[in-house]
Amino acid sequence: MNYPSYRPRRMRRNDLFRRMIRETRLSTDNLIMPLFVRPGRGVRVPVKSMPGVFQLSPDEAARECAEIASLRIPAALLFGIPEKKDSRGSGAYDDDGIVQHALRQVKSSVSDLVLITDVCLCEYTDHGHCGLIGTTPAGGDPYVLNDPTLELLAKTAVSHARAGADMVAPSDMMDGRVGAIRRALDRNHFEDIPIISYAAKYASAFYGPFRDAAESPPKFGDRRSHQMDPSNAEEALREVGMDIDEGADIVMVKPALAYLDVIRAVKERFRFPTAAYCVSGEFAMVKAAVEKGWLEEKAIVLEILTAIRRAGADLIVTYWAKDVARWLAQIPAELSGK
Ligand code: PBG
Repeated sequence: MNYPSYRPRRMRRNDLFRRMIRETRLSTDNLIMPLFVRPGRGVRVPVKSMPGVFQLSPDEAARECAEIASLRIPAALLFGIPEKKDSRGSGAYDDDGIVQHALRQVKSSVSDLVLITDVCLCEYTDHGHCGLIGTTPAGGDPYVLNDPTLELLAKTAVSHARAGADMVAPSDMMDGRVGAIRRALDRNHFEDIPIISYAAKYASAFYGPFRDAAESPPKFGDRRSHQMDPSNAEEALREVGMDIDEGADIVMVKPALAYLDVIRAVKERFRFPTAAYCVSGEFAMVKAAVEKGWLEEKAIVLEILTAIRRAGADLIVTYWAKDVARWLAQIPAELSGK
């Protein structure tokens, strides 16, 4: 492209002009707020590595959700921390499980909020892995069993739907789980419950603080058998394509900031509703620098989230959702460029 007669006039310098020609807009409508729920009453346990983030009992989660809705954030994403863990993660698909309880309690008092639930076993298994564990007949190291896990994930999604979930978010990265969950939901007359799939989820060091928050670090090994190699972008497109074929309604890339190229590639290739998860490590590193007085939180956060939108994400899961909603409500000309 060549514009020989174009001179950059005041357009670039004046705040009002900048607002008029801004390409990317960050809005509260784009945000999803993650929440951690745990058993009890009146419980708010601070998460050490995530300042301002708490594990909440269902009654506290209901209060929190009312506030989230009043800030006009459209959705919350629930993670459960169960009382007891076992080898089969049975707390995940127990109709009396913690997420199911929280769903019923939040639904009874808050109506204008989309409740999305995390569907994975890692918070519920005593070994901390996302699925059932087995060994090959020849022995050897234990590993995550893909196919036997699918049935449990499908049961979890149906149990969440029954308790009032509006949308389910499988985050386990087992192959075939979107299809298995879709079929199970349909069989149980939950055809109208959409699936937001963590389609391209990388085996990332950025999940460290989350594993504190969700009490879900793997007790042995790691998640590299089913989460993606950070070196691969082509593979992300194959993973996303498979999830769309299996019936995903929204596809997600995770983490966000170190994977902006992947978000862009996914959006361009599929032109599909695309979400990005700005994960716990992204949150923690900014918070730590802010606490030291090295970064200015509001400016940094708005710049990061705008970049994630610019890369192509329609939706952003972020622990800053409430702050951003407040900042945007005060200053409609977000990112005024100063
Ligand atoms: C798995 C899950 C994880 C996160 C969301 N869902 C952890 C993992 O895969 O180890 C991480 C989110 C974050 O870091 O904020 N249920």
